Amino acid sequence: MFIFFILFMDIQNISKRRTFGIISHPDAGKTTLTEKFLLFGGAIQIAGAVKSNKATRAATSDFMEIEKQRGISVASSVMGFDYNDYKVNILDTPGHKDFAEDTYRTLTAVDSVILVVDCVKGVEDQTRKLMEVCRMRNTPVIVFINKMDREGQDPFDLLDEIEKELNIHTRPLSWPIGIGSSFKGVYNLYEKKLQLFSADKRKIANDVLAIKSLDSKELDEIIGEKAANKLRDDAELVEGVYEPFNRDLYLEGYLAPVFFGSAINNFGVQELLDTFVQIAPEPRSRESETREVKPEEKKFTGFIFKIHANLDPNHRDRIAFCRIVSGKFERNKFYQHTRLDKKIRFSSPTSFMANDKSVIDEAYPGDVVGLYDTGNFKIGDTLTEGEMINFKGIPSFSPEIFKELENKDPLKTKQLEKGIMQLTDEGVAQLFIQQPGNIKIIGTVGDLQFDVIQFRLLHEYGASCSFRPLNYEKACWFTSKDKKALERFTNLKKHSIAMDKEGRPVFLADSLWALKINQDNFPELSFHTTSEFKTDNQ
Ligand code: G4P
Repeated sequence: MFIFFILFMDIQNISKRRTFGIISHPDAGKTTLTEKFLLFGGAIQIAGAVKSNKATRAATSDFMEIEKQRGISVASSVMGFDYNDYKVNILDTPGHKDFAEDTYRTLTAVDSVILVVDCVKGVEDQTRKLMEVCRMRNTPVIVFINKMDREGQDPFDLLDEIEKELNIHTRPLSWPIGIGSSFKGVYNLYEKKLQLFSADKRKIANDVLAIKSLDSKELDEIIGEKAANKLRDDAELVEGVYEPFNRDLYLEGYLAPVFFGSAINNFGVQELLDTFVQIAPEPRSRESETREVKPEEKKFTGFIFKIHANLDPNHRDRIAFCRIVSGKFERNKFYQHTRLDKKIRFSSPTSFMANDKSVIDEAYPGDVVGLYDTGNFKIGDTLTEGEMINFKGIPSFSPEIFKELENKDPLKTKQLEKGIMQLTDEGVAQLFIQQPGNIKIIGTVGDLQFDVIQFRLLHEYGASCSFRPLNYEKACWFTSKDKKALERFTNLKKHSIAMDKEGRPVFLADSLWALKINQDNFPELSFHTTSEFKTDNQ
């Protein structure tokens, strides 16, 4: 009986967890929505408690300003709170596009995402890129169309744009009545409830009215005849055009339910959160190189998806963020670090509740724990109770800016080597080595990373460096079953080939066009834009 109770408790712990990320193009309202969720979850008391990543968002290269914000971003890396019996974990993603790779990796640790779209701007550049990453793992997506208090685009046009540009089917679960200055509220198509809008940032609850039927006269009285007729027409069109909401299709990442609202005015947020906890997936199974690991398995497993270094030279520790995949994580228990084949235990694993950190004794699938690290971890590392497995799905993404690392102080060569190895283990950037000459090429997705590397090499390792820009636009890993073709390509392109840290060859393309030409000329080769691919050239 007791064992049964414990088993039940564990399953409960899993099924009531929701671990997700809020993603958006900068300025669409990610920070505001995050804050409102925490407010509704009771994790914070006043608006403004979550610091926006403003400085990291600004197109600044003032690195120290960014560092100040990074202090904040550690605390808000994971924001956990309890809501209606559910334990909700929001994994924060950096706003600045130069830190996009950090965001991509964080997305490997979530079970679903809420995508915020600005109703004025529609789908933007980062929205597209982030969705591509979601597509790679078929991550379930809910769309929140924000800023309905502004004169935005027609909702049907917005949904069309999302479907076309993001390659996902949509299904509105609520429908806006008017937009901008004529915005009156939203109608919940499922619960047949009307929520009336009032522009009030402090007001938390909205007026919700149950409307038995859209044909009722009551509707005309509340929102006016014109708006009521428009809503009737729109609702009819919605039912005719969009397939009914099907949770399985949402869980497969095929269909995105859509909500409309205004985060700053707390409008549509509670409705979104209520639906989210009900339909969003609980912690999911995860593929390792050898088998699939299920959350309900008894033994603990987890993986590292983010490493945060302390930039204070007096405290050179780092925090490695571990997403728990299965079993129960316990403080002070020895766990197997499978890459190093080493047992490690953690005396002060940290959990995050909104902006507070605290040492925890145990954690469950879906949770993220912060582990103090003295240099043992690398992004993608796996921890287990002894089984030698490695989780998949934490790839490196093909960088877009390349510079050669130049050593400015030959007396500090060793420090430079050590520093660059550790920083790239942390995922600050990627390192490629080109022969002859052992040339170190640093690849990033944003320019800011070079400032970060230069600053940290100097302050943490005492090594000074400079960078020489290189004319490459894309790095692709390449493989082939055809050894001859591989050899031909390697000989012909040797000046544009380098090795990644794992010794795998990478083609550095001058332009996307050059990449395309080479793909056409060497159809026997496969080019990969992430480091996670099946090796077929052995
Ligand atoms: P981000 O994290 O996605 O980058 O966006 P963030 O939440 O910081 O929001 C960007 C701007 O959009 C902020 O204004 C915010 O107040 C505003 N905003 C968020 N939700 C809504 C909404 O529903 N309606 C309207 N009209 N605006 C919204 P800001 O001027 O940049 O900053 P602040 O001075 O208001 O903090």
